[in-house]
Amino acid sequence: MTVDVTSSGATRLLRLSNGAVNALSVGNGFVGEIAAALNEALADVECKAIVMTGAGKMFCGGADITDFDGDPRALEALRNLLLAVEDASKPVIMAIHGVALGGGLELTLAGHYRVAQAGARLGVPEVTLGLLPGAGGTQRLPRLIGAGPALDMMLSGKPVAADKAQTLGLVDRLVEGDVVAAALEWAAEVPPTRRTGALPVPADRDEAVAAHRAKLRKGLNPAPAKIIQCVEALSDDLAAGLALEGALFGELMQTEASRGLRHAFFGERTVARIPGLSRDVTPRDIRSVGVIGGGLMGTGITLALLNADLPVIMVELREEALAKAGETIRKTIQRDVDKGRIDQAKADARIAAFTPATSLDALADIDLVIEAVFEDMGVKQQVFTALDAITRPDAILASNTSTLDVDAIAALTKDPSRVVGLHFFSPANIMRLLEVVRGRETAPDVLATAMAFGKRVGKVGVVSGVCDGFIGNRMFEEYLRQTWFMLEEGALPQQIDGALERWGMAMGPCRTMDLAGQDIGWAIRKRRAVEQPDRPYSGVIDRICELGRFGQKTGKGIYAYPDGRTAEPDPEITKLIEDYSAEIALERREISDEEIVGRCLLALINEGARIVGEGIAYRPVDVDMIYLHGYGFGRERGGPMFQGDVIGLPALLERLRTHAQGRNGWAWTPAPLVEELAAKGGNFQDLNS
Ligand code: 3HC
Repeated sequence: MTVDVTSSGATRLLRLSNGAVNALSVGNGFVGEIAAALNEALADVECKAIVMTGAGKMFCGGADITDFDGDPRALEALRNLLLAVEDASKPVIMAIHGVALGGGLELTLAGHYRVAQAGARLGVPEVTLGLLPGAGGTQRLPRLIGAGPALDMMLSGKPVAADKAQTLGLVDRLVEGDVVAAALEWAAEVPPTRRTGALPVPADRDEAVAAHRAKLRKGLNPAPAKIIQCVEALSDDLAAGLALEGALFGELMQTEASRGLRHAFFGERTVARIPGLSRDVTPRDIRSVGVIGGGLMGTGITLALLNADLPVIMVELREEALAKAGETIRKTIQRDVDKGRIDQAKADARIAAFTPATSLDALADIDLVIEAVFEDMGVKQQVFTALDAITRPDAILASNTSTLDVDAIAALTKDPSRVVGLHFFSPANIMRLLEVVRGRETAPDVLATAMAFGKRVGKVGVVSGVCDGFIGNRMFEEYLRQTWFMLEEGALPQQIDGALERWGMAMGPCRTMDLAGQDIGWAIRKRRAVEQPDRPYSGVIDRICELGRFGQKTGKGIYAYPDGRTAEPDPEITKLIEDYSAEIALERREISDEEIVGRCLLALINEGARIVGEGIAYRPVDVDMIYLHGYGFGRERGGPMFQGDVIGLPALLERLRTHAQGRNGWAWTPAPLVEELAAKGGNFQDLNS
């Protein structure tokens, strides 16, 4: 952490350097150092102008998000620094390269002039953290570029490219080459000082506020409404606007939604770190990939890889299925052109990178093979035995299995160290989660390669050990178990789904299973009935399956799908559920939304804690990232284990014990980790570092 101060003629150059993103940390004293360097420059009579820039890859990634866990007044120092910059008696020119985000962009707004390097990105992503730009952004950005464009930037959180920023008036000059040299050249002219905060209230304020307020969607994130409130409050009194902004920022910081979103931000980065994996382990180079299987999964995986500009050979023995997969791939890529996401040349290149094949021999010289064939050990055995013989000895062999034992699959090969699980989630070209399953023998560099590969194809990779269902599906089983029990006890599917969706799940469990295919869950329950006879499910869901109602794909499931897509509650199912309760002599009772959410959530947390305790997941945050990216768990809710901390470990244990004394109490045995943490006053968060 330093502010590197140099002089160039009569200009002082302050180069900010703090960690990977030059975060404007108050806690470690960095903001104080910048203020001191600024004051020195202002006091020096020889100094006529000041240029500020960032060291390394970027100007600045924003205020230090870790500062927000403490005292809300911590940000005062940053706000004061920005006021000092704005009020400086000498011109302050900001030289921007890489990114200027959040507090970083706000710092540039306090400066008098902005020069950006072509390719730089400027934005205010605070809303994605459940916050508002809290260092003057809500007051200065609308003054500079107008309320409409400022609200667009603040409410979307999306950065704009430097050329667009120049069009908006956010950037004064755009340069192709050395941005610091350009800023120094300008500073040598000693342009007059000017203050963004002194600009008049933008003329479009009322219109823009009304338009954005009308578009405001109800959701868990409280920040958008507060951002609009700050813009609405713009007046000639800058100090009053800043005071309101500061107060609302302090409020937002404390909300569960902002804490959940910040947990998600750091969680996505934490899961990439594999405990115990030496820094010396270098991932292997993956330049070509083979995908085996042209079904839904194989097609989705292939698309995900082509979209990351990786060449793919797809092997599918059935010519008809191969042709169909190829057609879907071409159409999907072409649709990206129609939607303006990519140009035709890019689409042509991606389509050309796809090679269909009907024999595994095509994979002789490939770096990574991903098997996505039918979930049957016999079929996998044939594939892996063949791959063992055909592929290069250094090629990585991955299975996309969601249910089978990766160690058993690895044992089919001569070198199990090159086998790993890559569990994609359907549709694989869209869902961001990739469960990377570490087998007993998986080599460290194979694991590192799998994680690097996941990042390359735009996924959030999370490592799981080997167990039935891995992390995500193993927990989901307990969630579903409670869902089916609640159906027989008195709830209806639409009530369960509604309660959970209002709480923050993208889709309730009944609709989810209708979409995934009820036959899949049915097969798992049949297998479990043999393997775990002491852990039964409600029979009500099997009754629905017995009618051949497998969900959306068969036109009917728990819901009816009159138009093939929209779930409609079905009186036939209501009757079936009520009849079932009568048949098992269970008097149906009112089940509150609170009970629905409470039981489903508790089931996830308890199984998640078991999984962490067993070492299947490295940390609670790994479990959370799996739920955020693979199961539609609301990002503002942080994830199941984050929610465990919100409830508090002693209260969690108490609730589990209460349930354990009720109906089907066997399903509620507290996980040892919950007992342990509750006893010692700990929480899940402590285990995340
Ligand atoms: N505060 C604290 N740490 C931060 C940070 C921030 N604002 N931004 C990034 N980091 C950390 C990351 O956690 C990571 O740490 P790790 O190496 O220990 O895991 C490290 O910096 C590098 O980050 P990335 O891996 O994300 O690096 P990239 O080069 O891929 O991306 C980036 C850089 C585009 C700047 C990206 O990190 C990013 O989007 N950061 C957050 C931007 C943001 O939201 N800024 C607003 C902050 S809130 C604010 O400014 C409030 C203000 O209005 C008062």
